[in-house]
Amino acid sequence: MKAVVFDRSGPAPEVLSVRDDVPKPVPRWGQVLVRMRASPINPSDLMYTEGKYGLRPEFPATPGFEGVGVVEASGGGPLGWLRKGKRVAVVSSGRGNWAEYTITTARQVIPVPHELPDDQAATFFVNPASAIAMTRDVLRIPPGEWLLQSAAGSSLGKMVIRLGKKYGFRTMNVVRRREQIEELKQLGADAVFVQSDGPVDEQVRHLTGGTGVRYAIDPVGGRIGTEVVASLAGGGRCLLYGLLSGNPVQVDPRLLITGSKWVGGFWLADWAKGQRILRLLRLFKQVRRLIADGTLHSDIVATYPLNDVIAAVRHAAADAKGGKVLLQISS
Ligand SMILES: NC(=O)c1ccc[n+]([C@@H]2O[C@H](COP(=O)([O-])OP(=O)(O)OC[C@H]3O[C@@H](n4cnc5c(N)ncnc54)[C@H](OP(=O)(O)O)[C@@H]3O)[C@@H](O)[C@H]2O)c1
Repeated sequence: MKAVVFDRSGPAPEVLSVRDDVPKPVPRWGQVLVRMRASPINPSDLMYTEGKYGLRPEFPATPGFEGVGVVEASGGGPLGWLRKGKRVAVVSSGRGNWAEYTITTARQVIPVPHELPDDQAATFFVNPASAIAMTRDVLRIPPGEWLLQSAAGSSLGKMVIRLGKKYGFRTMNVVRRREQIEELKQLGADAVFVQSDGPVDEQVRHLTGGTGVRYAIDPVGGRIGTEVVASLAGGGRCLLYGLLSGNPVQVDPRLLITGSKWVGGFWLADWAKGQRILRLLRLFKQVRRLIADGTLHSDIVATYPLNDVIAAVRHAAADAKGGKVLLQISS
């Protein structure tokens, strides 16, 4: 079969290649074989190829943590049998999805309704589930409270803004491009400011009459992440969930000690492992509903055939791209 492969870690455009002689995988008991249709290029895929992600590749490796496909065969077990022939959102369990076929456990394929287009089914899990889990499960932001977020114009950031509208929390959004202010306000952002207009914590204190915020999330790290943490009010909680700047957050312990503030990490893979199956089933239902009503919609800015993976990863890594880049694998 055809698959995107890399044999060493490095920047995606330098290390990825398309091969058409990769053996088609054979599912074992509890696993399913999925014929892939489409898969997005997420920041986590690019970090994975660079060897900077929480999971290390075993070479030769294939990237692609999510996507949509059709279950072609089951390796045995009741769930796999039930899923056979279904169009499903595919969460990778180590073997990547940028290939004509992938295998994963039957628990990690989620049937999607036929009215959900492939591009939205392909982006069903990583960002929608993280946006819900961080705001509704981990931070449990009450209605009326402010949530501060950086990189607010990201696909996930836009979902968080719409979740704020839906569940009544207010979003304070940090962007790096001024032209995103109006776009995010149209989506329902309550406040938007540009990170280069001054330290984030100063801008936050200006907006909150000096108190700061009780809830914050940051995928940038570095100076911006440091300033997001410094924006916390007494009793405030901040989740660090990405490293877009590539630099560490610096925290003066005195800042956390006074006011008993809390900073933690969030990784969807770990969070999902800790959930009961009933919560995950409820989450999948929630995601289906919230994609359908537009709350967890992903803007797709370009679609590339698998053969053009190098152009696709270059586009996905570019600044100001405005949404997700998708790989079309089959139709
Ligand atoms: N921990 C988890 O489980 C988890 C799950 C899902 C996502 N994430 C993380 O969430 C983040 C967003 O993901 P996504 O798919 O929504 O991304 P995306 O759609 O590709 O958007 C990336 C956004 O980040 C901004 N950005 C990039 N580098 C930046 C920097 N150095 N400083 C400030 N802003 C920067 C970009 O701004 P421009 O538009 O100006 O280029 C863009 O708005 C990523 O870090 C991803 O790894 C983590």
